[in-house]
Amino acid sequence: MLGHNTWTLALLASLLPAVTSSVVHPSRRQSSLESFIQSESTVALQGVLNNIGANGSSVAGASSGVVVASPSKSNPDYFYTWTRDAALTLAMVVEGFMAGDTSLENVIQQYITAQATVQTISSPSGGLSDGAGLGEPKFNVDLTAFTGDWGRPQRDGPALRASALIAYGNYLVGAGKQSVAKTNIWPIVQNDLNYVAQYWNQTGFDLWEEVDGSSFFTVAAQHRALVEGSAFATTLGQSCDICDSQAPQILCFLQGFWNGTSAISNLPSDNRSGLDANSVLSSIQTFDPNSSCDDTTFQPCSARALSNHKLYVDSFRAIYGVNSGKPTGQAVAVGRYPEDTYQGGNPWYLTTLAAAEQLYDALYQWKKQGSLAITQTSLPFFQDLVPSATLGNYSSSSSTYSSITSAVKTYADGFYSIVQQYTPNNGSLAEQFSRDTGTALSAGDLTWSYAAFLTAAARRSEIVPPSWGASKANKVPSQCQGGSASGTYTTPTLSPW
Ligand SMILES: *[C@@H]1O[C@H](CO)[C@@H](O)[C@H](O)[C@H]1NC(C)=O
Ligand SMILES: *[C@@H]1O[C@H](CO)[C@@H](O)[C@H](O)[C@H]1NC(C)=O
Ligand SMILES: *[C@@H]1O[C@H](CO)[C@@H](O)[C@H](O)[C@H]1NC(C)=O
Ligand SMILES: *[C@@H]1O[C@H](CO)[C@@H](O)[C@H](O)[C@H]1NC(C)=O
Ligand SMILES: *[C@@H]1O[C@H](CO)[C@@H](O)[C@H](O)[C@H]1NC(C)=O
Ligand SMILES: *[C@@H]1O[C@H](CO)[C@@H](O)[C@H](O)[C@H]1NC(C)=O
Ligand SMILES: *[C@@H]1O[C@H](CO)[C@@H](O)[C@H](O)[C@H]1NC(C)=O
Repeated sequence: MLGHNTWTLALLASLLPAVTSSVVHPSRRQSSLESFIQSESTVALQGVLNNIGANGSSVAGASSGVVVASPSKSNPDYFYTWTRDAALTLAMVVEGFMAGDTSLENVIQQYITAQATVQTISSPSGGLSDGAGLGEPKFNVDLTAFTGDWGRPQRDGPALRASALIAYGNYLVGAGKQSVAKTNIWPIVQNDLNYVAQYWNQTGFDLWEEVDGSSFFTVAAQHRALVEGSAFATTLGQSCDICDSQAPQILCFLQGFWNGTSAISNLPSDNRSGLDANSVLSSIQTFDPNSSCDDTTFQPCSARALSNHKLYVDSFRAIYGVNSGKPTGQAVAVGRYPEDTYQGGNPWYLTTLAAAEQLYDALYQWKKQGSLAITQTSLPFFQDLVPSATLGNYSSSSSTYSSITSAVKTYADGFYSIVQQYTPNNGSLAEQFSRDTGTALSAGDLTWSYAAFLTAAARRSEIVPPSWGASKANKVPSQCQGGSASGTYTTPTLSPW
């Protein structure tokens, strides 16, 4: 663990202002949350590294750079690498690296090298020649195809992987290593961007691998990837014309999931309410620290994303025993979606952390723009926290701004405190915790749970990722059109790092 102190130190250093402000409003619970986040951050980073091959202590047999979802091999068997989970985890690792933990660079490079192989694996989804194989959701940990029945394809993986690689690629460019970025990052990213541009308008399975249709999360991640992919191409003296042609239409399609008060996470919605952590995770994925509270890209501070947060969270109040007696405006344990029955249908650590993270993102955005707006759409969200809240624009110098942002911070911390309450003493984060007793359940040491813990901790400390260009990519075409654009897929051949 000693080698990874810097990321934890960066978090700790940034916690200092928060500690100071908690002196102004002393609270035992607040200070114990601070120390929990400090100690658990160390456990969480080690938990991630333990699950990455070849040296991860919990995943013997995994190839170099392979991010295993969980060491659990039965009930459930998660001893595979999912493109989605791996990419979200690596996005966090790249952030940690850029925050100063240089010891993480080795893992990043090994992950990218592994992806060059993953892209070439022929699977039941297909191969690389027409890109179809890039939509395969999971692989064996020795980088061979998983050939059993599964919900495939899943079209979020290539987009999320592109975003994770672009973050490191932009770092390389900034560090004067443009040629390494062009040789080792761009060919993989270009395949993924081509995949998104070609297949975004076809159905696939959602991030929970259950619904075959159109998923809000997938579409949101695809839009972001093409926007930053185009800019990354330009940085490298390349171009991505099909990114530019398809991105506005993907954004147009994204608007159709909004029903006036929440996102309907899967279309067609069938028998579900549509309220789903899918949408909150979308907001986290599209978070751009340079953006205004834009509805079209579902920014965390947007009226739409806040209204959606309320409806999503409220859908779990009455159904989980652990939430009993907690009225609106108080944080509760939240799961994937209220109708969930998988492993008993329980709250998840990563979704409860996502509910916190969206709000930390929003606080960052309001602070940066120096004001906060309450609109008809977001009023119910704000009135849960501050009953006297009314429509208007509140400058950061106003007392209303102070009281509202303070209430949002307390609410966000409430979700973290629930995770604290249901984390076992040894700090292990499983996938779920019981809806009745809060005991940890399902796969143990879930990589995504640990990554979610760390990104929420970073946002709470105002450590944010770079802009992906949302403020220049939020114009929705007046008429939505379906589409597909095809590029050429190439086998990535990497040079030594
Ligand atoms: C894994 O261990 C080998 C042998 O000790 C070492 O060469 C390699 O750098 C390690 N990989 C990582 C990611 O630390
Ligand atoms: C929706 O619910 C009805 C009635 O319970 C059921 O017959 C049908 O199979 C469900 N549809 C889906 C897509 O789950
Ligand atoms: C949007 O969907 C949610 C979840 O199903 C529902 O509670 C809400 O009433 C809907 N809003 C409108 C305006 O129809
Ligand atoms: C808040 O102020 C900004 C800048 O003056 C303005 O563009 C926006 O329309 C205002 N919003 C509301 C809800 O009044
Ligand atoms: C941590 O504690 C949990 C709950 O008691 C247990 O399931 C898990 O195996 C423990 N993990 C380790 C690494 O000891
Ligand atoms: C940040 O947003 C402004 C507009 O609000 C834009 O002009 C600027 O280019 C953006 N910066 C980045 C890095 O995207
Ligand atoms: C394709 O795009 C059109 C236009 O946005 C939309 O109406 C249609 O539902 C989309 N279909 C899929 C499967 O993405």
